Amino acid sequence: MKTRITELLGIRHPIIQGGMHFVGLAELAAAVSNAGGLGIITGLTQPTPDDLAREIARCRAMTDRPFGVNLTFLPAVKPPDYPGYVRVIVEQGVRVVETAGNNPQKWLPELQKAGIKVIHKCTSVRHAKKAESIGCDALSIDGFECGGHPGEDDVPNMILLPRAADELRVPFVASGGMADARSLVAALALGAEGMNMGTRFIATKEAPVHHHVKEAIVRATELDTRLIMRSLRNTERVLNNAGVERLLEKERTLGASLTFADIVPEVAGVYPKVMREGLVDAGAWSCGMVAGLIHDIPTVKELVDRIMSEAEALVRGRLASLLDRD
Ligand SMILES: Cc1cc2nc3c(=O)[nH]c(=O)nc-3n(C[C@H](O)[C@H](O)[C@H](O)COP(=O)(O)O)c2cc1C
Repeated sequence: MKTRITELLGIRHPIIQGGMHFVGLAELAAAVSNAGGLGIITGLTQPTPDDLAREIARCRAMTDRPFGVNLTFLPAVKPPDYPGYVRVIVEQGVRVVETAGNNPQKWLPELQKAGIKVIHKCTSVRHAKKAESIGCDALSIDGFECGGHPGEDDVPNMILLPRAADELRVPFVASGGMADARSLVAALALGAEGMNMGTRFIATKEAPVHHHVKEAIVRATELDTRLIMRSLRNTERVLNNAGVERLLEKERTLGASLTFADIVPEVAGVYPKVMREGLVDAGAWSCGMVAGLIHDIPTVKELVDRIMSEAEALVRGRLASLLDRD
């Protein structure tokens, strides 16, 4: 399948693995790229730019296909060393960067001068148009269903993607709620040039996380995620658990007076505990509603091959046959 995204990124299948904190390590990124998609290393999971350089080198040792690095711009009292991370990405010859969280304008000249394609991930048509106007090469449109930060507009992909298609000229992929061939074909029909998956890629053999996390995703249904931090305008979709219920109770009791400090026990330092130690109830960790569509833990190659062969069957079989009827 050739789309504007496969052409732009030099990949075989229009499938991207979104950056994921403490999940997007070299093992997963290389597995996705080896399977013909675009794997992405999560920049900020690496404590320093030097660590990121080592992670990129590890990934390169595992694949000769293109892969990317995610740079998430978050509000922080003490911001990470973004100039250092960008320098390493350029020096290491990475071909693609996925930006998210905030406007990437400041970093575009340095990245694009080095020939790096920048895919900006955003959750509204407004932000997508802004990203296009500043020169991003492609976009990842993250609907309300998505695991992680869906923004504050709450527009699901059934509306968001055709709206994006109507307004954008640069190619974009559908992100949020994507799991299988049906997702891919629907995304293409709605105007996207491929899809970006987060949660689905965690439940794979190669994802370098504790098996409790994969099993929790397989067990979860589409009813098991919750939105947290809405009143802080930092909404995050997470898998429900005891820690999340404690957090939601604080949100209910404190209302508008809630501050970040009130929920530190449920959100700070949770990822290593969940992803490395398998303590899945330790606090809030991102997970999409798409968990309801995830029932197995295949290898990344099995997953990608299955999506591509079923997508072809769906287009040539079910959809084409609808047209043949008199
Ligand atoms: C556990 C987890 C961690 C994530 N961490 C990040 C992150 O650090 N930066 C980022 O841009 N997106 C992050 N995301 C969002 C994903 O890249 C992707 O946009 C999202 O998962 C798509 O929705 P889906 O889960 O329905 O596929 C994370 C998602 C999950 C599930």
